[in-house]
Amino acid sequence: MSDSERKPVLLSGIQPSGNLMIGNLIGALRSWAELQDRYDCLFVVVDLHAITVPQEPAELRRRCLDFLCLYLACGIDPVKSTVFVQSHVPAHSELAWLLGCHTYMGELSRMTQFKDKSKKQGENIRSGLFFYPVLMAADILLYGADLVPVGDDQRQHLEITRDIAQRFNQLYGDVFTVPEAYFPKVGARIMSLTDPTSKMSKSDENPRSYVALLDAPDVIRGKIRRAVTDSGTEVRFAPESQPAISNLLQIHAALSGESIPSLESRFTGKGYADFKEEVAEVVVRAVAPIQERYRQLRTDKAGLEAILGDGAARAERRARRILDKVKRKVGFIPRT
Ligand code: TRP
Repeated sequence: MSDSERKPVLLSGIQPSGNLMIGNLIGALRSWAELQDRYDCLFVVVDLHAITVPQEPAELRRRCLDFLCLYLACGIDPVKSTVFVQSHVPAHSELAWLLGCHTYMGELSRMTQFKDKSKKQGENIRSGLFFYPVLMAADILLYGADLVPVGDDQRQHLEITRDIAQRFNQLYGDVFTVPEAYFPKVGARIMSLTDPTSKMSKSDENPRSYVALLDAPDVIRGKIRRAVTDSGTEVRFAPESQPAISNLLQIHAALSGESIPSLESRFTGKGYADFKEEVAEVVVRAVAPIQERYRQLRTDKAGLEAILGDGAARAERRARRILDKVKRKVGFIPRT
């Protein structure tokens, strides 16, 4: 393929912690699936990032496979895209070290996510949590990614990745592609069901704050029914004064495709209860086919192993090329 035909490289990843939920579907997974034809995509289950905070080994193992199957169930095609588990490609850890030796303590100290997350860790904060953005930079720079779809909370990590890449290029000549962040369309910010002023999080301690992609239909109905509502009574989109109902409107619109004005007019004069009931059905309907595909994939052990092996092999081949080049540039002796 000539350079002009080569598709831009796009890479993204999610940490296998908590439970993948509708916010991930709307804000990430669904758009990843759509990007596959236009870009040369890599989608990673970033398990090395997950152990920056304590994890139960058996649960981490199960979740990694769950996440991988859910990526696929949401439409990511392991033939079109390179789908793999981060720890299967040792080049991520190796490059992280090399980049860490070119990253300043001061830069890492400014990361707001580190400040937030370390507050929740009590006394013993793992140094990996501090180093986390360097590992993320390695994920991105190893494949020469041009574009990185991320949420707002990752803006700073993308900036530091660019700074590290530019610094490296200045010192050693062009090695890295300087990536751009790729923010999904606005309106994709789904808020917590129990606190509509904070973002829906797959790692929230309270599972009622999110709808997991693997929640059973009755669990989904219960969560939506019990979602907090505002003091008003009208189904109206007003994020400032009615954040809870506005969030439910966003969820409905994002999953049903119906516009918010159309929903507002259909529910004029009706109560919150009717509206919530419909939102619940829309969510149940959206996750049903995902759950079905997930179950097929998750029980096909041989199929899953083949996908994992193939993804890791493809990623490894690409990563090695860049890693070898970086090692040469830094001045390491090539292994013979
Ligand atoms: N830090 C990202 C998050 O929490 C996950 C991540 C790790 C990532 N490596 C990445 C995202 C590389 C994009 C590209 O959302």
